[in-house]
Amino acid sequence: MLLKKTTDILASEITDKAIYEERRKFMTSSAGLAAVASLLPLRDSIAGYGGKPLSSTKNTQFDIADTLTSYDKITNYNNFYEFGTDKYSPAKNAQALTTDPWSVEISGEVEKPGMLHMEDILKQHAIEERIYRLRCVERWSMVIPWLGFPLAKLIKQARPTSKAKYVQFETLYRPGEMNGQKRRVLDWPYIEGLRIDEAMNPLTILAVGLYGEVLPKQNGAPLRLVVPWKYGFKSIKSIVKIHFTDKEPVSSWTKSAPNEYGFYSNVNPEVDHPRWSQRKERRIGDFLKRDTLLFNGYAEQVAHLYTGMDLKKYF
Ligand code: MTE
Repeated sequence: MLLKKTTDILASEITDKAIYEERRKFMTSSAGLAAVASLLPLRDSIAGYGGKPLSSTKNTQFDIADTLTSYDKITNYNNFYEFGTDKYSPAKNAQALTTDPWSVEISGEVEKPGMLHMEDILKQHAIEERIYRLRCVERWSMVIPWLGFPLAKLIKQARPTSKAKYVQFETLYRPGEMNGQKRRVLDWPYIEGLRIDEAMNPLTILAVGLYGEVLPKQNGAPLRLVVPWKYGFKSIKSIVKIHFTDKEPVSSWTKSAPNEYGFYSNVNPEVDHPRWSQRKERRIGDFLKRDTLLFNGYAEQVAHLYTGMDLKKYF
């Protein structure tokens, strides 16, 4: 995410082409397809991150055929402004974050408000592995094997009242550990929001891991949102609060630049960002750009949520 200028991916950030070609050949072979089920054989070497293995069952319902982005890229090319505004600082700086113990406050228009402890969240929800595309508003994309569970399950437990039209999410505010929060590049804490039907959509997950392991801190440990048909900034990291409300939440990005980052932020090649076109994207690891797909390729699952809406107005 940038406030004033665009970035392009440097050649040095692109996965070595030979590795890419090898992986692509492998992925399209039947051995490759079988390996997708376990994923671990496709993982690149790990530079000291990641964590404990996390068991899961594979959910193939939303499978895509795209090649996975390497573990190294997913965990070393991040947007996490609490740890710096460039792509490389989060991998370094986020290691200072204490993620255990961790609690999430449930508040607002629900019958069951309260504090949820991370251990209990993990015990209560069966963890699934799902491969999703992530499209950043900056025109790069990745394919990530997430581990998580549907947000809808946690919402149902909280029993929203009829006034709960929106869900607001909040990231931890702890400048002592999150060095980027010492600068007011955004109005901290980081806030995001969804309409309740978007939050309940089966594609929307709370992620707790990736590539078979506990979520690395730079990717939003211990709990982050993943909304694959929206630009990446909606996928808020290191969540400490989930608040149910009748008012449309104002996200940190909308607050900082309302004409650039709207509430919906659905991936849409037809709706330009004021400073750049959204028609193309560069998949990290690819050399050539590719066309951006409406709703990031998830139109079948989510287009109905926006029937009759002018997507240029509600961007
Ligand atoms: N969540 C918080 N709390 N702070 C952030 O700066 N950046 C967002 C999103 N979630 C961000 C955040 C943006 S712009 C993107 S593209 C994705 O996280 C990047 O997720 P990744 O680093 O796991 O690829």
